[in-house]
Amino acid sequence: MNAKQNDTCHRAYWPLRALTHGVLRVAIALLPLLAAQAPAAGNAAAGKQVYDRRCLGCHGDGSSANTLGPSLVGIIGRKAGTGDRGVHSRGLIEFGITWDEASLRTFLAAPTKMVPGTNMNVGGLNPQELDDVIAYLRTLH
Ligand code: HEC
Repeated sequence: MNAKQNDTCHRAYWPLRALTHGVLRVAIALLPLLAAQAPAAGNAAAGKQVYDRRCLGCHGDGSSANTLGPSLVGIIGRKAGTGDRGVHSRGLIEFGITWDEASLRTFLAAPTKMVPGTNMNVGGLNPQELDDVIAYLRTLH
């Protein structure tokens, strides 16, 4: 292809490029609007259903006692591995963090990936279930 042909090619594509740029610009301008309309992260009522199905048996809640896992009452803001009763691994105790919503999210998405040596090997919540269960944990205090 010589230089002249190349030039013709560019000119032929110009309207298309202008169009894609235009669409992109509109999409970028709308992004903050979309973000503002996104529903608030988690729903505690839906989270309780997930919790009752996936966590309650080991962790209990305010009214039923925990068994294998430590109590999660007051978990947000508590140092990892210092919960009441239940089995605590050395891996989690030595991990040495204080739970907040972001670290809980990472842990619950894949516990053994974040804390090697933890003996809680229960993951598999989808992003919505994670948000909901964390919203529910916020109410356990
Ligand atoms: C089969 C029992 C079992 C189930 C089911 C289970 N866990 Fe656990 N969980 C444990 C054990 C045991 C530990 C202690 C882990 C350690 O010390 O390494 C733990 C630890 C935790 C911790 C850290 C506690 C602390 O004191 O630092 C959180 C948070 C947690 N689990 C949340 C959940 C949530 C939310 C669910 C449901 C999605 C769940 N777990 C399901 C057994 C379980």
